[in-house]
Amino acid sequence: MTNAVIECILSRSAAKYYDPTAALSDDQIRDLVRIGTSAPTSFHLQNWRFIAVRTPEAKARLSPIAWNQPAITDAAVTFIVCGQLADSSVIPDRLAPLVAAGVMPEKMVPEWEIPARDLYMAYPQRQRDEAVRTGTFGAAAMIYAARSLGLGSTPMIGFDAEAVHQQFGLSSDEVPIMLLSIGPERPGNWAQKPRRPVDDVLDFI
Ligand SMILES: Cc1cc2nc3c(=O)[nH]c(=O)nc-3n(C[C@H](O)[C@H](O)[C@H](O)COP(=O)(O)O)c2cc1C
Repeated sequence: MTNAVIECILSRSAAKYYDPTAALSDDQIRDLVRIGTSAPTSFHLQNWRFIAVRTPEAKARLSPIAWNQPAITDAAVTFIVCGQLADSSVIPDRLAPLVAAGVMPEKMVPEWEIPARDLYMAYPQRQRDEAVRTGTFGAAAMIYAARSLGLGSTPMIGFDAEAVHQQFGLSSDEVPIMLLSIGPERPGNWAQKPRRPVDDVLDFI
């Protein structure tokens, strides 16, 4: 089973070495996020925000609170991928463009909002889980889009979440779920590492 998309997925690896002289334009960065936000989210919540750290000054602020990982200094951009705690009250707003486009009948909006309220409102852990899921899906789409464009990527959990929250002005409902560096690579990166055998991770029932 193969095609260009599968080849892109199978050939991705986490980059360590980036071309420190390379930059991405704001339009290229915007495009990556636009592609990322095509990922699915629960009830179409779209509960994410992406902070593009791409100037030397911003990189210098992020680096010391992210283990001084070289990718932050060297990659063209490092996104602070933020998930927002799931909040069902935003659903009418988030669905309004679908209603306006005639995709969803207006009377269906409460049919999404009410179960979402029941699912999340009294359950902080679920709100946070959804923030992490949402941000992860968005980041994954950006990782594979980057690969398809010949760019390297590195998801990173090696950072001080509290310090990032404070330094970069995240709001109280935002969780910095990962850093994601993206940019042109320089030689020396490893190929994708071998994986555990499928039979070790797959159960047929
Ligand atoms: C959630 C997550 C956090 C990670 N954090 C870091 C990190 O802080 N620094 C780093 O160099 N790599 C980090 N990685 C990259 C992993 O080490 C890498 O994906 C893994 O070793 C598999 O290698 P591959 O992606 O090249 O197949 C992270 C990956 C994920 C998914």
